[in-house]
Amino acid sequence: MRVKGEKPWPPESLKTEFSVRLLNWIAIIYGEKEICMEDFDFENRIVSPTEIMGENDNDNPLRPRRLDDYIGQEKAKENLAIFIEAAKQRNEPLDHVLLYGPPGLGKTTLSGIIANEMGVNLRITSGPAIEKPGDLAAILTNLNEGDVLFVDEIHRISRAVEEVLYPAMEDFAIDIVTGKGQMAASYHLPLPRFTLVGATTRAGQLTAPLRDRFGVTLRLELYTPEELARIVNRSAGILGIAIEPDGALEIASRSRGTPRIANRMLKRVRDFAQVLSNGVITLQTAQTALDRMEIDELGLDSNDRRMLNAIVKFYRGGPVGLETLAAAIGEEAVTIEDVIEPYLMQIGFLNRTPRGRCITRAGCLHIGMDIPDLPDAQIRFDS
Ligand SMILES: Nc1ncnc2c1ncn2[C@@H]1O[C@H](COP(=O)(O)OP(=O)(O)OP(=O)(O)O)[C@@H](O)[C@H]1O
Ligand SMILES: [Mg+2]
Repeated sequence: MRVKGEKPWPPESLKTEFSVRLLNWIAIIYGEKEICMEDFDFENRIVSPTEIMGENDNDNPLRPRRLDDYIGQEKAKENLAIFIEAAKQRNEPLDHVLLYGPPGLGKTTLSGIIANEMGVNLRITSGPAIEKPGDLAAILTNLNEGDVLFVDEIHRISRAVEEVLYPAMEDFAIDIVTGKGQMAASYHLPLPRFTLVGATTRAGQLTAPLRDRFGVTLRLELYTPEELARIVNRSAGILGIAIEPDGALEIASRSRGTPRIANRMLKRVRDFAQVLSNGVITLQTAQTALDRMEIDELGLDSNDRRMLNAIVKFYRGGPVGLETLAAAIGEEAVTIEDVIEPYLMQIGFLNRTPRGRCITRAGCLHIGMDIPDLPDAQIRFDS
């Protein structure tokens, strides 16, 4: 069972790029707060002219609902299954869980699974959405016993809100102060025992007191091509797409270890298969489609190649500082750190050193650049 987040406006059915623009015009005219495009997960939605599915991201049919359907992340899954089973046996809510890892690996999905497996409601909110301590108090007092509260991007909650969260997590109570001066009164409000599931792409930015209050910390890893192929096959089954095993593996191995990318590529490759051949995704159609989308056989797109090129061309292979690199390629440092780098490091194309980023020999070879041989070149030959 799912309970919607705190801000049901605008309704899911209105979430298209066009309607967001329209709503923003209305918002400007009436002096309301503008709606951000980032509020919605457009990239993860199914947008097809013939099929209107995934209108509501919460009802995304590709999201596994039970732990058994959740593919990969074996270590995290095994431990979580034990914690859930133990909590259920004791008839207690699950301890607070912190999920961290790069975007699109299944943190939101896992929070839904935790709620389903515990047989409780899920409330979804995010760090930046909780602006004031009062907002958090309103969310917490509306929870039922055992509910799961999912806070996405938990590293972005403000200090004032965090202060309220501490006693809520530890003692299941909050202290509220009302009025000012002589009229001020303080109330100690007990809360239902709930489970906080926090998700973050940057565990390092969490304050130590907040991190310490999570009983379970799970790090999600990038998926292997074999795991992703299973995810692609599962998604193809749900969407009614005919796919051959080597077609699935081809999509998987170009998905940068990320299920969200794998699912998105599957939908795009389906379009090619439908228009250019008989609708079946074979190795050949997958290769043609992905080549035409400029995604190479390792899943690198033009952004990755641009960054690797810049390191060799401008900085002789590195080391180069993150900020300098970001400025050189016109990308945000956060995007490089969270989105581009993890995969390049995983496949051994990039090294993070205390002095900056260095391209590896394998990275140079892949983009077809000469390995810099200048005396001060810091290129790593160890991979
Ligand atoms: N283990 C998995 N098995 C099958 N599908 C998965 C798995 N993990 C993720 N997915 C799919 O990938 C999509 C993205 O997952 P999800 O939204 O949970 O990622 P996330 O980690 O919350 O990303 P973000 O950090 O961007 O919020 C989901 O819609 C789901 O279909
Ligand atoms: Mg998410």
